[in-house]
Amino acid sequence: MQFASEILSNAEISPAYWRVRLTAPREFIGARPGQFVMVRVAPGIDPLLRRPLAIFDVGPAAGDAPAWFEMLYKVVGKGTAMLSALRESDGVDILGPLGTGFDLGDDDREKLLVGGGVGLAPLHLLATALARRKSPVRLFAGGRTRGDLLCIDEFEALGVECHCATEDGSFGARGLVTTALVRHLDAFDGKAALYACGPDGMLRALARIAAGRALPCQVSLEGRMACGVGACLGCVTAGREHSAQTPDYRRLCVEGPVFESSELKWGD
Ligand SMILES: Cc1cc2nc3c(=O)[nH]c(=O)nc-3n(C[C@H](O)[C@H](O)[C@H](O)COP(=O)(O)OP(=O)(O)OC[C@H]3O[C@@H](n4cnc5c(N)ncnc54)[C@H](O)[C@@H]3O)c2cc1C
Ligand code: FES
Repeated sequence: MQFASEILSNAEISPAYWRVRLTAPREFIGARPGQFVMVRVAPGIDPLLRRPLAIFDVGPAAGDAPAWFEMLYKVVGKGTAMLSALRESDGVDILGPLGTGFDLGDDDREKLLVGGGVGLAPLHLLATALARRKSPVRLFAGGRTRGDLLCIDEFEALGVECHCATEDGSFGARGLVTTALVRHLDAFDGKAALYACGPDGMLRALARIAAGRALPCQVSLEGRMACGVGACLGCVTAGREHSAQTPDYRRLCVEGPVFESSELKWGD
């Protein structure tokens, strides 16, 4: 659906990271974890393209207050800078929810969520849905430094056990989040499933870990997008069978952004 939305709040929660809450139609709260929206940050043609952002949280209408949704975003360029300049009651045009979303999977597997920076954004709605089903959930959150670990207390409030890692050692274990994950997997003898969103290098490492241990692993990709609805082919990624002779491309906006990691071709 496409709708005119009003900003309810928009605040910097950590250096360069912002959290925005917007009004939404009632039906929007049925959005699935992992789905995203395309945001038009200004009414004119600059910037021309909408920007894709994950849905972090949703809430129902209550009394006179409308339904709402939230996004976490990092200011990296023009579109996100313009979004951060918007204030309460400013309007933005939203297209969504879009894309596939995560498959919540079997209840007997421990769900291991792995995220870095704004990659934590789609994992929060996922953790909420899993916690509601009383699925066992752990979060492995990583970043360069403490400021990249966003909203950890809100994951904990859902009953999620959080394992944090920073490359500079300023919070949690020093090192990569994948090291903390492997340590847990080595000590764990139950069935597990991985869910991840974050930088390409982290996702590639997770795809390798999952393949080596025959674990299901869903990854949410954050490549560039232009239309968000499958028309421009600007967002494609290579599928497992892709080669120069037999092209196998997947559109992030329609077939994704969530994929089983074994469906994709990962470079070295
Ligand atoms: C499905 C999906 C969900 C996303 N969810 C979130 C989210 O929840 N929070 C969030 O902060 N971001 C998210 N992103 C990334 C976000 O869309 C981009 O950061 C944003 O579009 C940048 O817009 P801009 O105008 O500020 O930057 P631009 O001016 O367009 O670019 C600024 C710089 O950032 C780089 N860049 C832009 N987009 C990306 C990208 N997708 N990947 C890597 N580098 C990029 C550019 O190459 C350039 O160097 C998501 C992307 C996708 C596809
Ligand atoms: S962004 Fe246009 S096809 Fe995906």
